[in-house]
Amino acid sequence: MDGNGRWATRRGLPRAAGHRAGAQAVRRVVEAAPGLGARGLTLFAFSADNWKRPPGEVAALMRLFARHLRTETPKLVERGVRLDVVGRRDRLPAPLVASIAAAERATRDGAELRLRLAVDYSARWAISAGVLLPDVDLLVRTGGERRLSDFLLWESAYAELVFTDVMWPDFTAADLAAAIAEFHARQRRFGALPEAAAG
Ligand code: IPE
Ligand code: MG
Repeated sequence: MDGNGRWATRRGLPRAAGHRAGAQAVRRVVEAAPGLGARGLTLFAFSADNWKRPPGEVAALMRLFARHLRTETPKLVERGVRLDVVGRRDRLPAPLVASIAAAERATRDGAELRLRLAVDYSARWAISAGVLLPDVDLLVRTGGERRLSDFLLWESAYAELVFTDVMWPDFTAADLAAAIAEFHARQRRFGALPEAAAG
C-alpha cells in the first residue's frame, strides 16, 4: 500500500488525510478479494523502516490502525475474514497492541479470507526470527515504485510481480481484478518446462 502521502500532497491535503483515504481503500480491497478468488491477502501497512518518519505522522498512523481495527472487526467477523497482524509488537503503543489482540481473537474462526496486516514488519527480521508465511502467488505494489522494500522476501521467491502507478487511496476493486487477471495470464513454470514441452 504505497502512495498515500503523495495522493494527499497532490490535493493540497496533509499526509494524514492520505492515510485515512488509504484506509478506505483497504476496506474496498478486503471486501472484493474473496469474490475475485483470493483466499489470502497480506497488506504492508507499516514497515520497520517507517519509524524514520516524523513522530506526528507515525502517531497518526498508529491511532488510525487502532481505530480501524476496532470499527472494522465486527464487519470482518460478519464476512468470515480472519485477521492476523504480522511483525514486531514490542515497539507498538500499548492501546494498539490491545486492539490487535482483540481483533485477532474476535476473527479467529473466519474461513473466507485470511487477512494479514503487516505492521512494524521487516522481511529480513522475519527471516532471521524464523517467522515465515505461506508462499506469495501475486505481489502488487502501488504508487509507482518498482521495488520490494523488505516485504515478504522469502515468501516471494516465485511471486508474480505487478507494479502499478495507481496511488493506494485510488486503488479499487477493479484494479485488484486487473492485477489478478494479469496473474492468470502469466505462465508459471517454477523452473520446470511448460507442460506442452515437458513430454
Ligand atoms: C502509505 O503510503 C504507506 C505507509 C507507510 C502507511 P506512503 O505514506 O508511503 O505514501 P507516499 O509514498 O509518501 O506517497
Ligand atoms: Mg511510500
